[in-house]
Amino acid sequence: MDTEKHPGCLIRRPASAAPHYRRAMDLNETLRTTGAVRNFHPEPIDDAVLHRLLDTARFAPSGGNRQGWRVIVVKDPDRRRQLRDLYLADWYKYLALASAGLVPWAPLSDREAEAAALAQEPAYAEAAAAGPPGFAESLDTAPALLLVLADLSALAAVDRDLTRYTFAGGASIYPFVWSLLLAARAEGLAGVMTTIAVRREDDVRALFDVPETCAVAALVVLGRPVTAARRLRRRPVEDFAWIDRYQGPPLPGG
Ligand SMILES: Cc1cc2nc3c(=O)[nH]c(=O)nc-3n(C[C@H](O)[C@H](O)[C@H](O)COP(=O)(O)O)c2cc1C
Repeated sequence: MDTEKHPGCLIRRPASAAPHYRRAMDLNETLRTTGAVRNFHPEPIDDAVLHRLLDTARFAPSGGNRQGWRVIVVKDPDRRRQLRDLYLADWYKYLALASAGLVPWAPLSDREAEAAALAQEPAYAEAAAAGPPGFAESLDTAPALLLVLADLSALAAVDRDLTRYTFAGGASIYPFVWSLLLAARAEGLAGVMTTIAVRREDDVRALFDVPETCAVAALVVLGRPVTAARRLRRRPVEDFAWIDRYQGPPLPGG
């Protein structure tokens, strides 16, 4: 087995393995280091590679195995620019909300504090316009843009009839997105799941001829990463896992 270093991941490659097994990575290490990547080398990703990623991601689980994901690979430069603009339309709102210490658009949130934070949106837009373009401003030039849709007739949205905000339907789509990102990692690629454009769902649908029976789930941005994979900062298990009751005794470590 020869070992080679790729930007973004350590890959052990068995020399004679079949193509779909040719890159092996330690699963735990991969899960602990696959973070959001937003800086890419400029070259596009071949269709054959994207096809391979989707061919792996399609093994993700979904409620009732209905596989309600649909994907549009966005190549057309004009559509890319329009999609970027739809993303940007709410990106500065996100920055204003997050900078105010809020969880942007959380189902439970202080609406007055949100309104006060959103008043700062123009300042964030102006600051961005004055500086070099960031990830959001240059989204249209990303190596690969994959719009992930959810066929609403294929989602086992078991919390559909509850009075609270529903989210179980997304659980049939986002594992696919995560598998896509992990599959990308195995190819020496990286990226990020984004959802800001979901806020402009009607416009996104119109831009890509998406029927109303589909929801916009995510825009996945992929490319060859500029920097290496890094250790991620996450809360410890004791912060979120308990025994027998909510906020009961924490599950002890081994
Ligand atoms: C559901 C979801 C939505 C996200 N939406 C966006 C987004 O719209 N734009 C963006 O730049 N990153 C987005 N992210 C990436 C998160 O910011 C990222 O996963 C998080 O900050 C952890 O980053 P890390 O893995 O690099 O530590 C999203 C991630 C998830 C899981």
